[in-house]
Amino acid sequence: MRSLLILLVWTEVLAVTIFSMALSSPSDAYPSVNGVDSVACVQTGDKLIPVRREVYGNGRIFDITHRFTPETPSGDSEEGIGQFLSLSMSMKNGSDYNFSVLKLAVHAGTHVDAPGHMFDHYFGAGFDVDTLDLEVLNGPALVVDVPRDTNITAEVMQSLNIPKGVRRVLFRTLNTDRRLMYKRGFDTSYVGFMKDGAQWLVENTDIKLVGIDYLSVAAFADLIPAHLVFLEGREIILVEGLKLDDIELGIYNVHCLPLRLLGAEGSPIRCILIK
Ligand SMILES: *[C@@H]1O[C@H](CO)[C@@H](O)[C@H](O)[C@H]1NC(C)=O
Ligand SMILES: *[C@@H]1O[C@H](CO)[C@@H](O)[C@H](O)[C@H]1NC(C)=O
Ligand SMILES: *[C@@H]1O[C@H](CO)[C@@H](O)[C@H](O)[C@H]1NC(C)=O
Repeated sequence: MRSLLILLVWTEVLAVTIFSMALSSPSDAYPSVNGVDSVACVQTGDKLIPVRREVYGNGRIFDITHRFTPETPSGDSEEGIGQFLSLSMSMKNGSDYNFSVLKLAVHAGTHVDAPGHMFDHYFGAGFDVDTLDLEVLNGPALVVDVPRDTNITAEVMQSLNIPKGVRRVLFRTLNTDRRLMYKRGFDTSYVGFMKDGAQWLVENTDIKLVGIDYLSVAAFADLIPAHLVFLEGREIILVEGLKLDDIELGIYNVHCLPLRLLGAEGSPIRCILIK
C-alpha cells in the first residue's frame, strides 16, 4: 500500500512534468500543416464535411464529454433534451448571419453539480457553479473501473484501494457497458453511489473530484442522501455523465471547465483527459 502510494505520487509528478513540457513545445502550438491536428474538414466533391473527433493530439488528448444532441438524456425527461438550439436570426430568412439561442437543462448530458443543487440554503447563499474551485476541476486524475455487479457501497469503495493523496477519481461503471448515456430516456437502474459509499469516500479518502459515467453520482435508490453526503462539505465537486468508453485505466491530467453561470446549481461542462 505504501509503495503503491509512493508510485502514484511519483507518477503524478511525472505526469505533470510531461504535461508542462508538452505544452511548451512549439510544435503543439503550431501543428504542421500536414499533421492530423490541422485537419478540420474533409472535402468530397464540392461537399465540405467537418471531422468530429474523440481523440486529439496523436492519441494524447481524450474528449470525455458527450456531444449534446436532441437525444442527450436528462434526469427530467423520457425523450432526451429535444431541440435545444434555435435560430433567432437566420440567413435563410434574410438575416446577415445565423444566430442561435441555447435552451438547456443544466443537469443534462456531461455536467457538474454545485452545492446549491441539493441544499436550499447553499442555493440561497449563492454557492453556484461560478464558485466551484477550478483547481479541483483540473489536475492529476485516476480512472478506475468498479465491479459491475453492484452499486458503489462502502465495501466497494474500500475494495478499490484508492491511495490517500489521490484527489480526483473518475469511476467507470456498468453504465458505460450499458451505453446509458446514448439512450435518450432517463434510466433509473443506473449504477451510482449508495449513501454509505459516499460516506466512506468522504471519511477515508482525499478525493475532491468525483466523476461518473451517468447523469448522477448517486444511485437512484439513494439519490438525495448520497448527494447530500457529497455536497454538504462544499469541497467535493461532482461531474456527471462522463464519456469513459475506450479510456484506458490509469492516471491522466483531467481538465474540466464549467460555464460561468451566476445563480446556476449546475452547468454543462467540457472535460478532457491528457495522457
Ligand atoms: C446559416 O448560414 C449559412 C451560411 O454560413 C447559410 O448557408 C445557411 O442557409 C444558414 N442557415 C439558416 C437556417 O439560415
Ligand atoms: C423563416 O421564416 C419563416 C416564416 O416566418 C419561418 O416559418 C421559418 O421557421 C423561419 N426559418 C428559420 C430557420 O428561422
Ligand atoms: C443499482 O441500484 C439501482 C437502484 O438505484 C438498481 O436498479 C440497480 O439494479 C443497481 N445495480 C446493480 C448493478 O446492483
